[in-house]
Amino acid sequence: MLASLCQDVECGQPIAILDVGCNSGELTERVHELLEETLGRSCCTLAIDLDPVLILRATEAANSKFNITYNVVDVSNSQFSSVAKSFLETIGKEKFDFSFLFSITMWIHLNRGDEGLESSLNSVSGISKALVVEPQPWRCYRAAVRRMKRSGAPPFEMFDKLKRRSGVEDDIVDFLETQCHMKKVLETSRTSWGRKLFVLVQVLADGKTS
Ligand SMILES: C[S@@+](CC[C@H](N)C(=O)[O-])C[C@H]1O[C@@H](n2cnc3c(N)ncnc32)[C@H](O)[C@@H]1O
Repeated sequence: MLASLCQDVECGQPIAILDVGCNSGELTERVHELLEETLGRSCCTLAIDLDPVLILRATEAANSKFNITYNVVDVSNSQFSSVAKSFLETIGKEKFDFSFLFSITMWIHLNRGDEGLESSLNSVSGISKALVVEPQPWRCYRAAVRRMKRSGAPPFEMFDKLKRRSGVEDDIVDFLETQCHMKKVLETSRTSWGRKLFVLVQVLADGKTS
């Protein structure tokens, strides 16, 4: 499916990838490698995380044969758009061909609330031709809150105020489709640890998908 989504990328142009919440980069590197192998094209990845310790770890462990740029950025912050745009400029592209949001929506939601999640989804989809989203279901939120309580750490202040709750995975897809000009083209069944992957593509001004 991903191969068919980037058929129109001109020969000689790299496939641009954004990985949001890359942690220490293990999955980023694996995805980058897999896409290069599967598509037979060179890829340029921008991988961001808000945690500088994780980005330092990722940078130190990075395999130099992959063109991956790690950067400390909070996706819910306005700085994100300028970092992403200047990365795209350096590789001569206007949008990312694929943006990945693996296991991150819940953290943005718990820490930044409904508004922070919505503005993050909006800014990522605005610069992406296709999105691959793996949202955490509601039971993960409850487990995260319980873990926080047990550890004695301060609670997630936003938790009680969240409007998007038990149907949060579908709410996220619905928001992307109704507010961010994206269209769902694939929803997987649940993985062994209870997650679904959604693939969405941008809807162009003429109503066609890219
Ligand atoms: C559960 S980990 C997922 C890591 C990786 N994507 C994976 O699936 O293996 C979530 C990551 O998102 C990062 N994160 C949380 N909120 C973020 C935000 N607002 N902006 C950027 N990164 C964020 C965390 O620091 C953490 O590394």
